[in-house]
Amino acid sequence: MPVHRLTPLLCLLSIWRILTTVSGHPHVGPCQLIQRTALCNNRKLSSVPEGLPENTEELQLNYNDILTLQNKSLLRYPSLTTLSLACNSLKKLESNTFQDSKWLVSLNLANNNLNSSYQESSLALKRLPALRFLDLSENGLEDDMVSTLLQNVTSIEYLNLSGNLLRRLDETSFRDLHHLKELDLQRNLMFEIDGAFDSNPNLRRLNLAFNYLPCLTDFHMTNLVVLNASHNFIEWFISRQDLNETFQLETLDLSDNKLIFFPFLPSQNKLRNLYLSHNTLRFYEHLSDNATLPNSSTTVEFYNLDKDLHNVTAQLWDDSLHGDISALEILDLRGNKVEYFPQGFIRKMPILSRLHMSTNCLETLNFTSENFSCSLYELDVSNNHLNLISADNHTLAALGNLTYFNLSRNNLKMIPSGLFSSLSNIRSVDLSYNNIGVCLKKTATFTNTLSDCVNWQNIVSLRQLHVMGCSLQTIPASAFAGLSLTHLELSNNPGVIMRDSLRSLSETLQYLGLGNTQIQNLDFSAFRNLKSLNLSKNSLSQIPRSLQSVDLKVLDLSDNNLSSIPLGQAHVLASKLQTVFLTGNPFNCCQAEWFRTFDATKTVTLVARSEIQCKDIFQTHRIKDSQRFSCQEASESMLWYILLLVPIFLSFGGMAIVAFLAFKPKLLKKSFKKKYLKPTSY
Ligand SMILES: *[C@@H]1O[C@H](CO)[C@@H](O)[C@H](O)[C@H]1NC(C)=O
Ligand SMILES: *[C@@H]1O[C@H](CO)[C@@H](O)[C@H](O)[C@H]1NC(C)=O
Ligand SMILES: *[C@@H]1O[C@H](CO)[C@@H](O)[C@H](O)[C@H]1NC(C)=O
Ligand SMILES: *[C@@H]1O[C@H](CO)[C@@H](O)[C@H](O)[C@H]1NC(C)=O
Ligand SMILES: *[C@@H]1O[C@H](CO)[C@@H](O)[C@H](O)[C@H]1NC(C)=O
Ligand SMILES: *[C@@H]1O[C@H](CO)[C@@H](O)[C@H](O)[C@H]1NC(C)=O
Ligand SMILES: *[C@@H]1O[C@H](CO)[C@@H](O)[C@H](O)[C@H]1NC(C)=O
Ligand SMILES: *[C@@H]1O[C@H](CO)[C@@H](O)[C@H](O)[C@H]1NC(C)=O
Ligand SMILES: *[C@@H]1O[C@H](CO)[C@@H](O)[C@H](O)[C@H]1NC(C)=O
Ligand SMILES: *[C@@H]1O[C@H](CO)[C@@H](O)[C@H](O)[C@H]1NC(C)=O
Ligand SMILES: *[C@@H]1O[C@H](CO)[C@@H](O)[C@H](O)[C@H]1NC(C)=O
Ligand SMILES: *[C@@H]1O[C@H](CO)[C@@H](O)[C@H](O)[C@H]1NC(C)=O
Repeated sequence: MPVHRLTPLLCLLSIWRILTTVSGHPHVGPCQLIQRTALCNNRKLSSVPEGLPENTEELQLNYNDILTLQNKSLLRYPSLTTLSLACNSLKKLESNTFQDSKWLVSLNLANNNLNSSYQESSLALKRLPALRFLDLSENGLEDDMVSTLLQNVTSIEYLNLSGNLLRRLDETSFRDLHHLKELDLQRNLMFEIDGAFDSNPNLRRLNLAFNYLPCLTDFHMTNLVVLNASHNFIEWFISRQDLNETFQLETLDLSDNKLIFFPFLPSQNKLRNLYLSHNTLRFYEHLSDNATLPNSSTTVEFYNLDKDLHNVTAQLWDDSLHGDISALEILDLRGNKVEYFPQGFIRKMPILSRLHMSTNCLETLNFTSENFSCSLYELDVSNNHLNLISADNHTLAALGNLTYFNLSRNNLKMIPSGLFSSLSNIRSVDLSYNNIGVCLKKTATFTNTLSDCVNWQNIVSLRQLHVMGCSLQTIPASAFAGLSLTHLELSNNPGVIMRDSLRSLSETLQYLGLGNTQIQNLDFSAFRNLKSLNLSKNSLSQIPRSLQSVDLKVLDLSDNNLSSIPLGQAHVLASKLQTVFLTGNPFNCCQAEWFRTFDATKTVTLVARSEIQCKDIFQTHRIKDSQRFSCQEASESMLWYILLLVPIFLSFGGMAIVAFLAFKPKLLKKSFKKKYLKPTSY
């Protein structure tokens, strides 16, 4: 794909490439030749090497110290089509550098200092009639420098200007780039683009991410296919509504902005992927025609201060402002403020396959009225305020493609009884952190009756079930009959009584989450396919023996009550496991051979190894610092020392007191003498 040719090599990548180049190819001076390619990366070169074959077509000189590309540098290589000079501190291209480079197609100048002598460099660039790929990223270029450099460079199709210092673009910025197809402007300082792309009718992909744009109004680039304007400060996206053309736009990324309204999309478009995550977007249908708010304005106008040709007026509460969303396949609205979908909104997307709604403010979800498309494959409404879900047989039966359904972290206490059993292709359900139980007895599966529990039996397509933190109390013995779960998450249901419910899953389960369930003695020997087991936060004082017969790869035993691991068990576990979590246990430093067993086994990773602690008779240590432990033998001799030292200290103390007392009278006497035994003068 041509896009890749724009990408400058990353430091690591090119070094890696040098290190791994096969030594079977001939070298000329510092360069390695592979057919007509000369690889001279990272050779501390200060100029273009001279002795390379004259028919060299590709020359890679990344990561060298070439400061100036001289008039004569490339004279020897008239067949060059690709030249890469990324990361060279290059300041200047002398104006005659490319006098004979009429075949040069791709020029990578990323990560240099072309802001220094850009006027002369611009003369050089004009001599490249065949140039199609130009990478000028990370060169400290400002607006006028870019205009100068690109003047009369008409042949460019792929241009990378990312990581420069552009602030403002206008119609002169890219005026001569009539063939431009792809433009990367990410990571600049742009706060305004004013008619900048009017001379680039062939532009297909435009990246404006990580800039300071406050809005995109009057969007009228009908030929653009991909627009990435993520990570800006955009409050409004408004496309020109009066155009009678179909916009070619397929992907629009407006995530991480400040949108307050759903973007005003073109009324005819081909938009398939719409990314709107992390904005403050919501719908305002309830405000339209609302008599209680007589004076609230219903339109917003944007005036273009230079030329009032492009005033934009938008009917704020108008339904049609969402534009054409009929081709949408992915709609990402994560992290917004959506409380409800406007009437008919979901129905306008007949081929929607992924809807990401997590972290919004939805309160109800009515499958009957929303009428989701039968192509819906993934529905994520986690972390909302859902307290009601309603559905009917008919609409659920139509959701035959729904495979991933995430309802976790809501306020659900009731759920339509047949919700999951009606979804013929459902593979993964996450109901974690809701107050929904597992049904004790067989209940009717009328979808329109609500139930506070789910009957999971015989949902044959289901593979992954998450019911973490659902305040589960009892799971009936036959709860999972007829299921082929590979993944069951029951963690954070402290005290849950599981009866024999897991037995029917013993053949299929690969992951089992039982963290913080206060489970004590479950027999795992039948779980032959179990690969990953979470037993954290369960006050376990020993590792279940039955685990030795399971072919586990990942075991989480953190935050339990383990003081040691019997050496035999440690050997068996270490030989099978790949990852083990053991932090937060009150291990005994003086019974830590198991640790050395795990440590010595190269195939197992102790997660947070240096944070596993143990205690000896004096204090807590990191279990890896075994030289600091005071264990029995050591402590015994320490005791002896103390016993020996105490009498010595005592006798020294006694002697000191005696000496003091013996000395004290003398002192008294002396002063006494001084004071009262003065020689008399009589
Ligand atoms: C443009 O250059 C930047 C940094 O040099 C790079 O990360 C990005 O992938 C390039 N863009 C394209 C479209 O290759
Ligand atoms: C490079 O060539 C240009 C055009 O002939 C000339 O003006 C300039 O002085 C030359 N530069 C050097 C360093 O010789
Ligand atoms: C060129 O850009 C760099 C930052 O990329 C900056 O430090 C330097 O001062 C700039 N030089 C000129 C002449 O603008
Ligand atoms: C660009 O091209 C036009 C027309 O070919 C010419 O008049 C103008 O001088 C050129 N500008 C530069 C800076 O080369
Ligand atoms: C938009 O650009 C950002 C930053 O480069 C990138 O992370 C994101 O994946 C892009 N979006 C799309 C849809 O490609
Ligand atoms: C838009 O195009 C349709 C047919 O393509 C035509 O009937 C209609 O008059 C056009 N409207 C305008 C405003 O040009
Ligand atoms: C008018 O606004 C109020 C308050 O936002 C809302 O409760 C009510 O449903 C709205 N009426 C209509 C007709 O949408
Ligand atoms: C609505 O606007 C009118 C005229 O501007 C004003 O007299 C009235 O007090 C306003 N009503 C409200 C509720 O703000
Ligand atoms: C745009 O708005 C300005 C200010 O209200 C007005 O003077 C101008 O006529 C408007 N232009 C158009 C084309 O509507
Ligand atoms: C769901 O929508 C249907 C159709 O609009 C309606 O009949 C039903 O009452 C709604 N259910 C709830 C609980 O609002
Ligand atoms: C799944 O979606 C496709 C379209 O993407 C549709 O043709 C098919 O009928 C759907 N399958 C079911 C079982 O609904
Ligand atoms: C819904 O479907 C279930 C079986 O899937 C059936 O037992 C029940 O009668 C249906 N309910 C309605 C209201 O059609």
